[in-house]
Amino acid sequence: MEKQELLDKFKDVFGDNDGAQVYFSPGRVNLIGEHTDYNGGHVFPCALTIGTYGVARKREDNKLRFYSLNFEEKGIIESSIEDLVCTKEADWTNYPKGVMWAFGERGMKMTSGLDLMLYGTIPNGSGLSSSASVEVLTGFVLREFYGFDVSNEDLAKIGQYSENHFNGVNCGIMDQFAIAMGKKNHAIFLDTATLKYEYIPIRLEGAKLVITCSNKKRGLADSKYNERRSECETALAQLQQVIGIETLGDLTEEMFDTYQSAITDEVNRKRAKHAVSENQRTIRATRALQENNLELFGQLMNESHRSLSEDYEVTGEEMDILVEASWKQEGVIGSRITGAGFGGCTVSLVKDDFVESFMQRVGREYREKTGLTADFYAVEIGGGPEKL
Ligand code: GLA
Repeated sequence: MEKQELLDKFKDVFGDNDGAQVYFSPGRVNLIGEHTDYNGGHVFPCALTIGTYGVARKREDNKLRFYSLNFEEKGIIESSIEDLVCTKEADWTNYPKGVMWAFGERGMKMTSGLDLMLYGTIPNGSGLSSSASVEVLTGFVLREFYGFDVSNEDLAKIGQYSENHFNGVNCGIMDQFAIAMGKKNHAIFLDTATLKYEYIPIRLEGAKLVITCSNKKRGLADSKYNERRSECETALAQLQQVIGIETLGDLTEEMFDTYQSAITDEVNRKRAKHAVSENQRTIRATRALQENNLELFGQLMNESHRSLSEDYEVTGEEMDILVEASWKQEGVIGSRITGAGFGGCTVSLVKDDFVESFMQRVGREYREKTGLTADFYAVEIGGGPEKL
């Protein structure tokens, strides 16, 4: 949607658009490094050119008025800057409200309310981080409107803090960081233990990144996510009895083999094994990409999926069918589930000449086997949040 169209919509919703500004914040896809960000490991995500558009203006009173073009049936949802609590009725507005609350927790209080209209181009519930996109967008707007002295990295931390403490999802830093720090045509190699990062140029000569949305509903995803986190914490605590480590990300696979018997529960041992191997794979995969070794990068993507399926058990039947159908196609360099799992999307690296046939054939096989229709997007790597 063009900028003027968004401003016109804002006027339709709120009566006029005097003083309204337009912003954009991307979605993200993680290329490799899944469920490592709360285990002190590495991740390798990038921002996308799809994301969330926001039209915002400051108010003179303390009111907050929210509207989403993606949930028009919900109408205008109202609140106030004195009422920043998470409620069921607040629905999707709990994300922007959480960020406002999190700024306040850091001593940065809003001095007046605002009107905010959103329009997202990220498919709903796809696991491409629509919530983190909204969080970073909100932080970006607050910084502009109230002059809060925060960096983009702070916007990522504030977004994560609000999601953890306001929305009750124990997510790591990856999504908000990938979005707030996004750079066009680059992926971010981030060490989540130190927040040191490096931008890696992505030159996929002769290949494209294809995201496949499974349209499988992500039931119970949040509680399963929190469960995986605590399984890893239990495993870490037992390992710490026998070896001086701070996180699972401190372990090589050899060290893990040596000490794994300290983990008494077999399930927890598998979870930790994934966290360790995935971190090492992410380091190797990033190096492979820097050396232009797409074949190796693709193999590591495939191994990542197997580990998420067998050891971490966050894929499920439909996502496994989707990835296995992808692996079979000519021109596919690698394919894996991306994001938290339990539904969502896959990311595949496909040679240019085979993108069309990939979409047709995978779509057909997936429909035949699951009755679900997948959506395909050949995506581009975009930059971070901006004012349009
Ligand atoms: C979700 C979380 C991230 C990360 C991924 C899994 O997207 O928000 O912090 O843990 O799952 O890699």
